[in-house]
Amino acid sequence: MKIAVVLGTRPEIIKMAPVIRELEQRHADYFILHTGQHYSYNLDRVFFEQLKLPKAKYNLEVGSSSHGEQTAKILVGVERLLQIEQPDVVLVEGDTNSVLGAALAAAKLRIKVGHVEAGLRSYDRRMPEEINRVLADHCADYLFAPTPKARTILLGEGLAEDKVFMTGNTIVDAVNQNLKLAQTKENTLKSLNLKPKEYFVVTLHRQENVDSRDRFTSILDGLDKVAADFGLPVVYPVHPHSRRRMEEFHLKPQNITLIEPADYLGFLQMERHARLLLTDSGGVQEEACILGVPCVTLRDNTERPETIEVGANMLAGASSDRILECTKMMLGHTNRWTNPFGDGKAGSRIVDILEAN
Ligand code: UD1
Ligand code: UDP
Repeated sequence: MKIAVVLGTRPEIIKMAPVIRELEQRHADYFILHTGQHYSYNLDRVFFEQLKLPKAKYNLEVGSSSHGEQTAKILVGVERLLQIEQPDVVLVEGDTNSVLGAALAAAKLRIKVGHVEAGLRSYDRRMPEEINRVLADHCADYLFAPTPKARTILLGEGLAEDKVFMTGNTIVDAVNQNLKLAQTKENTLKSLNLKPKEYFVVTLHRQENVDSRDRFTSILDGLDKVAADFGLPVVYPVHPHSRRRMEEFHLKPQNITLIEPADYLGFLQMERHARLLLTDSGGVQEEACILGVPCVTLRDNTERPETIEVGANMLAGASSDRILECTKMMLGHTNRWTNPFGDGKAGSRIVDILEAN
């Protein structure tokens, strides 16, 4: 069986890495197709280097543009290469435009689609990711659900039971595989002058937050309040999209340490030793929960409700007062909860399922 692994952005590289490692170990017939949605060194190549992933066979270099244009370029480019390569299965991960474009291209060519991290729903259609994940799920022949809830959602949408496989989330594999390596990055904290449990880490890049001047301003105010109230550093590796908006809106947070996007091992090290994480990222909500670090989510909803149910996460939205309030509440709770995202063997399970079908 020939497998095409399609990816295009930072979280897809990180979460697909355990599947790629498994395919490598089994000497499977596969190739990587990079859409080029992310292209800056610190959103792309650094992860290939650090996670020791094989180079992509193809890179479509679609770059940045509007949703329609970017997705269209991915659709056309992926279709062309799938016609040349004729794989049996196309694997995609998550909810980006790369996932939608690739899943659609494959489904129209009647090539089977495997969707890793299927069945997540925020029920918020203002998010481009929600549209992408729903459509990708409905194009897919293999739906790799990370949790029982995701499986139930897929079945509830009428997707056939024999297409849905409960595998756990590959982010657990990624954290387990890379945590040891991350210890070699102790200098990350030192170089930022941070002491374990005496700082906060922030990520904030989602379109509905940073493209709105009001929401972005209010969230940054909330983070300023957290820094001032606790008298501790708040470190924010700024995604280039957020950096652009910050400049455009002339936002200059006073108490927050702004740094460049971090490499994965450095970021894992920062996450693991943080007192608490504040984020609108999907992957960071999961990693916080897996690492036993409390999380405050800077959104009104989440497609990762398991993190809230186990007591690892709270939704603060964009209100500055609520961000401070939720931070205090989360720090008043226990950090002991059960990881709902599986046993860290999702990568091998996914490859087993593909090989058996
Ligand atoms: C995309 C995904 C989002 C995911 C995020 C991971 C979609 C709709 N969004 O958002 O779900 O959480 O990736 O980080 O697919 N840019 C660079 N360098 C790059 C890539 C982007 O500077 O390598 C800048 C450009 O100014 C670009 C902007 O970031 O216009 C947005 O990039 P884009 O890929 O469209 O979306 P993300 O915000 O990265
Ligand atoms: N991440 C990273 N460096 C950073 C910020 C995040 O390596 O500076 C990692 C993080 O550990 C997680 C992934 O990027 O695994 C999450 O990606 P992102 O927040 O870009 O996308 P989302 O998960 O929201 O789709």
